[in-house]
Amino acid sequence: MPFSAPAPSHLAFVPFVSVQNMMALVHTIGIDTFLRELGEYLEADFKRWSEFDKTPRVAAHSAEGVIELMPTSDSSLYGFKYVNGHPKNMKEGLQTVTAFGMLADVASGYPVLLSEMTLLTALRTAATSAMAAKYLAPANAKTMAIIGNGAQSEFQAMAFREIVGIQALRLYDLDRAASEKCARNLSGQGFDITICKTSEEAVEGADIITTVTADKQCATILSDNMVGAGIHINAVGGDCPGKTELQRDILLRSTIFAEYPPQTRIEGEIQQLPEDHPVTELWQVINGEAKGRASDSQITLFDSVGFAIEDFSALRYVRDKLEATGLYEKLDMVADPDDPRDLFGMLQRSKGTDTP
Ligand SMILES: NC(=O)c1ccc[n+]([C@@H]2O[C@H](COP(=O)([O-])OP(=O)(O)OC[C@H]3O[C@@H](n4cnc5c(N)ncnc54)[C@H](O)[C@@H]3O)[C@@H](O)[C@H]2O)c1
Repeated sequence: MPFSAPAPSHLAFVPFVSVQNMMALVHTIGIDTFLRELGEYLEADFKRWSEFDKTPRVAAHSAEGVIELMPTSDSSLYGFKYVNGHPKNMKEGLQTVTAFGMLADVASGYPVLLSEMTLLTALRTAATSAMAAKYLAPANAKTMAIIGNGAQSEFQAMAFREIVGIQALRLYDLDRAASEKCARNLSGQGFDITICKTSEEAVEGADIITTVTADKQCATILSDNMVGAGIHINAVGGDCPGKTELQRDILLRSTIFAEYPPQTRIEGEIQQLPEDHPVTELWQVINGEAKGRASDSQITLFDSVGFAIEDFSALRYVRDKLEATGLYEKLDMVADPDDPRDLFGMLQRSKGTDTP
């Protein structure tokens, strides 16, 4: 406790989930159960899509990367995430993506949760991709190629095993050390893992292709000739203006599904297409208003960029787990004087007490 007097009221304290407690939470629940339950929270929120305030995220671009704020709210909770994307970070020993976020009570505006979200973003991105694949991938998909074997890759593999039933992984990364790291981390999980020398080799025999590379500019991770009939593409790495992974011709052959088209048209693979190119919103598939996969030969594409409601669902899930696990600290974060108009008096009364 930083001050001996006056003591902050209980409303001043906000539960905070540190990186250490997030890791403990995942281990306590079990990563498979965590991903499955998180998927259920995501589905529940996608089914009530119209209840949310929605806006494309607010992005601050620089030569090196992007910093974004992702807000949304329903009638009782408000949430936002701070997240960055800096592809050059990895070479400097830093994460490409880091994040934190919060939930607040809409009725009072008081924060009710603050959380690390670097790990939580990897978990929610993987659970969202797997949820989409449940509706879009070919029936009985067992083999997934993962192109880009960095920080997100193992999370994708674990979610696709738990939610879709993927058993075999074909890994490719420009840097073989990344594929070896991914294979090492997933050993003992029961996957049949092949490290491939090229992306062409990686997609051979795959039912699902996940692209999760990081580059600040448009890249061609998949070219048209690599994508056969019936494939599902989970395109995760293209998520900024000028940062895409797929050759345009693939998009023209695919049925495209997006989280929130006003944001995806700015950031996703479909930035390569005209504004009016048809896309289906994923929430409509999940609540039965639109078709998912319609035939065995169809190429389905989940043009993932990451949307605020997914972070809201993830924070809601974490919050619901706190009471039972106790895996949080209390942050003295909100100045809450006994007399709400006496903020200055509270400051004065604290003078001379123990300072932090
Ligand atoms: N859609 C979403 O919701 C979402 C969420 C989180 C991250 N992302 C994006 O996913 C991407 C990956 O994130 P990360 O944290 O795993 O990054 P990372 O830097 O840890 O890993 C990226 C990997 O891609 C590899 N790579 C780069 N270019 C390649 C190429 N041409 N072919 C094969 N491999 C290549 C790199 O060697 C590296 O191992 C980023 O672009 C990030 O912005 C998207």
